[in-house]
Amino acid sequence: MAKLTVKDLELNGKRVFVRVDYNVPMEEVDGEMVINDDTRIRATLPTLDLLVEKGAKIILTAHLGRPKGQREASMSLRPVAAKLADLICRPVAFVDDCIGEKVANTVGTMQPGDIVLLENLRYYAEEEANDAAFAEKLAAVADAYVNDAFGAAHRAHASTAGVAEIVKSRGGQSAAGLLMERELIFLGDELDNPARPFVVILGGAKVSDKIKVIDRLLEKADTILIGGAMAYTFKLAQGYTVGSSLVERDKVDVARQALDKAKAKGVKFLLPTDNTVTESAKVDGKWTFKNERNNADVNIPDGVEGVDIGPETAAAYSAECAAAKTVLWNGPMGIFEDPRFAVGTFAVAEAVAGATKKGAKSIIGGGDSVKAINKAGLGEQVTFMSTGGGASLEFLEGKELPGVAALSDK
Ligand code: 3PG
Repeated sequence: MAKLTVKDLELNGKRVFVRVDYNVPMEEVDGEMVINDDTRIRATLPTLDLLVEKGAKIILTAHLGRPKGQREASMSLRPVAAKLADLICRPVAFVDDCIGEKVANTVGTMQPGDIVLLENLRYYAEEEANDAAFAEKLAAVADAYVNDAFGAAHRAHASTAGVAEIVKSRGGQSAAGLLMERELIFLGDELDNPARPFVVILGGAKVSDKIKVIDRLLEKADTILIGGAMAYTFKLAQGYTVGSSLVERDKVDVARQALDKAKAKGVKFLLPTDNTVTESAKVDGKWTFKNERNNADVNIPDGVEGVDIGPETAAAYSAECAAAKTVLWNGPMGIFEDPRFAVGTFAVAEAVAGATKKGAKSIIGGGDSVKAINKAGLGEQVTFMSTGGGASLEFLEGKELPGVAALSDK
C-alpha cells in the first residue's frame, strides 16, 4: 500500500476521527428502525479493535441514506450505535449531532479506548458539498484521521476528503483503516497481477453501467463471462434476436467495440447460448412473469424476455470457473430476487465457491453479487466480498477514489 494505514500510527490518548460506511439497509418495525444487514458494521470491527488496543479515543462518523441536508428521523444512526455496541461488546456512546458543542463536550470526557458514534453527516448539506468551513468543524475533534469507509471513498465529501486534508495540513496523519486496506488489496493489487487463468464474470442490467469496467478488464482477464440483461445488448451486437428482452439499443456499437477488442486481445468472451425466458407484462405498475421456460437457442424469439442464463450457459460458465486461479464476479446473471430466475446466478455462485475450494482466489465485487452469494448461502466460501457498491465499480474502472487520494502517503 502506498498510503499509511492505521497500523502505522501511534495513537495512544489521541482523538481519532474515523470515517466508516454504516449506510446499512433498515426497515421500520413497530415504529422502530431495524437494521436488516449488519455486514458493513461487522466489517469495521478489526479496525475498531486495533484502535482500542492502541488506546485511541474513537470518534466514528458516517452517513445513512440521502437525507439531503434535512434531519430525517428514519435516517438517524442511533440504532447503529446500539448494534455496534452489541457486536464489539463495549459501550458505544451516541451524539445526536456531528459538529458543535455537544460533540466537543462528549469528546472532552473520552478516555483511551472509548467509542462514540456521531449523527448522520448528511443531515448537513455541507457534507456532500465538501464545504471547507464544515470540514473544519468536523476536524475540530481530530488529532488523527482514519478512513475505513471504502463504500463511500468514491465521494469527495467533507468527511471523506476534506477532514483528511485538514488533518494533514496541521502536520497530522490520515490513514486507511484495515477494511479500506483489504478492499484496495483485493480489488486493486490482486487484480493487477492475478494468478492465471483470470476469469471475470460480469452481470447486471446495463452495458452502460459496466462498459468502463469491461474495457479495463479486457486488458487483464483471460476470460470474460457475460450474464444479466446486458448480455442481450451484446447478443444484438452479434446479430442475434433477443425477443422483448431488456436492451440498450444505443449501446450496441459500444458492445460491438468491446467484442472486437476481446478478439484483438485474445480474451475469451462468452455470452449466453441459452436463456430462461418468460412472458412479461406490467399489471398495476408491477412487472409480472408467466410461462417461464428454457429457450435452448442462441436466438430469443419474439414475445418472450430473457430473465436468466440457461442450463447450458451455466454449465459452460461453471467449467470456466473450475479452471480459474483468480475469479472476479460483479453482477447477477438474471432477476435472482425471483426464485424462478435465480438458478443461473446460484449456479455461478456455486462455481465461484467451488473454484475457491480448489485454491483459486475469488473476489466478489460488491452490490448485488454480494447479495446473491449470501442468498445462495455461500458468502463464507469465497476469498473476499467487497463492501462497496458504486465505489467498487469506480475502483475497478481504474478511477482514483477521492477518499483514498486524500490519505497520507507512506
Ligand atoms: C453506498 O451505499 O454505496 C455508499 O454508502 C455510498 O452511498 P451514496 O451512493 O449515497 O453516496
